[in-house]
Amino acid sequence: MDKRCLLLLLGLSLLLGFLQALRCHQCFRVRPDGSCQHRRAICTAKENEECLQILLMSQGVGYLHGYQDCRANCTNMTAVQGTYTMVLSCCKDRNFCNRM
Ligand SMILES: *[C@@H]1O[C@H](CO)[C@@H](O)[C@H](O)[C@H]1NC(C)=O
Ligand SMILES: *[C@@H]1O[C@H](CO)[C@@H](O)[C@H](O)[C@H]1NC(C)=O
Repeated sequence: MDKRCLLLLLGLSLLLGFLQALRCHQCFRVRPDGSCQHRRAICTAKENEECLQILLMSQGVGYLHGYQDCRANCTNMTAVQGTYTMVLSCCKDRNFCNRM
């Protein structure tokens, strides 16, 4: 069996196992181009959890970096501190809705 076939099987088994659960992107540092600087992963939302994405922006520079995770009691929020703006958005309408 070639590698692609194994990946497909792995994907299918993951799909079946988590059919009911919401899955989210997880990355602790998302670069401006959307790639993950380290540890790209997938998390499965537990009870009370939603997909979270955080954008950190700076006046003048624009988008600095992002963050993706599963978060319990997630609430949308915008926080401004000096020239920095942090935007938290939560979603649960579909898998991987916290895509950047
Ligand atoms: C989320 O909310 C529930 C119910 O209000 C509470 O029991 C739980 O501790 C909260 N979890 C977190 C991580 O804040
Ligand atoms: C939170 O923000 C997301 C994306 O901006 C939006 O789709 C969602 O409806 C918001 N949720 C609430 C509870 O306001």
